[in-house]
Amino acid sequence: MRTRPLKVALLGCGVVGSEVARIMTTHASDLAARIGAPVELAGVAVRRPSKVREGIDPALITTDATALVKRGDIDVVIEVIGGIEPARTLITSAFEHGASVVSANKALLAEDGATLYAAAEEHGKDLYFEAAVAGAIPLIRPLRESLAGDKVNRVLGIVNGTTNFILDKMDSSGAGYSEALDEATALGYAEADPTADVEGFDAAAKAAILAGIAFHTRVRLDDVYREGLTDVSAADIASAKRMGCTVKLLAICERAADGKSVTARVHPAMIPLSHPLASVREAYNAVFVEAEAAGQLMFYGPGAGGSPTASAVLGDLVAVCRNRLAESTGPGESAYTQLPVSPMGDVVTRYHISLDVADKPGVLAQVATVFAEHGVSIDTVRQQGRQDGNGEASLVVVTHRAPDAALSGTVEALRKLDTVRGVASIMRVEGE
Ligand code: NDP
Ligand code: HSE
Repeated sequence: MRTRPLKVALLGCGVVGSEVARIMTTHASDLAARIGAPVELAGVAVRRPSKVREGIDPALITTDATALVKRGDIDVVIEVIGGIEPARTLITSAFEHGASVVSANKALLAEDGATLYAAAEEHGKDLYFEAAVAGAIPLIRPLRESLAGDKVNRVLGIVNGTTNFILDKMDSSGAGYSEALDEATALGYAEADPTADVEGFDAAAKAAILAGIAFHTRVRLDDVYREGLTDVSAADIASAKRMGCTVKLLAICERAADGKSVTARVHPAMIPLSHPLASVREAYNAVFVEAEAAGQLMFYGPGAGGSPTASAVLGDLVAVCRNRLAESTGPGESAYTQLPVSPMGDVVTRYHISLDVADKPGVLAQVATVFAEHGVSIDTVRQQGRQDGNGEASLVVVTHRAPDAALSGTVEALRKLDTVRGVASIMRVEGE
């Protein structure tokens, strides 16, 4: 074993970074044996230097991350600050100054992964980011390496722990939305700005990363259709239950049937209780990968939190250090297919639409006509008169598979009917 240590700069020492530092210290001899050389924490960049950080030598703490990545003696930079800047500049600077990089930063990878990959390649260094998608679950490496000889057609799953935690609490214990979000934040699952979780940005960033790797093309955050869970009501959850379903925030990346384009989307969806994703509880994540030769694979595990995420970071650290000692690098960007990303209107799926309608003869026929005129076939209809005496009824329509554009046209036309007082909710139905 080499006795000279590999030097690691840790950028960020919050929920994830503090666990990375702890495991690096407590498992130092095992890591050294697995890598073939000791790894030494050479500096820790933070924003608030006076904060007490248990187990970390105060002499290592700095607020000057820029100087730390430029030191020249650093072998690996671990970036767990988050956000776009200064993370992007720090990572590119790390490559320029000879270090490889491990990052958990899905927001940056989805926003500008191309710049990071290009800088890594230009300087012959590694860029690893297993922790950026689905916490502890090995998913990036299986897609980048194990399935590199297969053709992936679909990736579908729950990739955000915070929103799964919230939906699970609302569904199982009737907890309120804010109460469940506060609990997820206290447990270290939520992003620094939890809007990223609840508005679906975090899951959309992960979908962009997964689609890019799975389909060997370049997919950015802006290419991903996104709806968060802020519009999901207790009534939607109750309605899903009546249908034998539950509501989950899903990320779905698909290759078109003709193979000429891909789609990537994140939105709440009803899934049957019999589907394996329905039983994914709390902050766990689960992802199905469908590949031509392999068939269907399922990846499941803790999707957020300091310790699970640190596990993925440390796995990357070991891999990058091994490459370093072997004077080699792991896989870089693979975007040779250059497949375009189609708009949401091209996606074909099923829908659950809840309408408030006038409770009088002929309304059902009127509504059914609008669906037929837009080529959207109805599977089931449930009408329930209300007891509030205002002459309204609730009408729940579940459709067969139809293009999203056709459904949007249907809803627009329904809103114009005098007898439709309101569209209470529209939710896609997946996993059947
Ligand atoms: P935290 O907010 O807990 O930690 C961020 C850390 O970065 C803090 O230590 C902070 O310093 C430091 N920091 C912020 N700005 C700067 C700066 N300009 N210079 C130096 N240090 C800075 O975030 P998390 O640990 O939760 O997340 C880190 C990354 O990991 C993000 O990209 C996130 O998306 C990703 N991630 C998080 C997961 C989770 O479950 N939490 C799971 C998977 C990925 P200080 O301590 O002084 O405030
Ligand atoms: N905020 C993220 C989540 C962290 O809840 O999934 C893990 O990426």
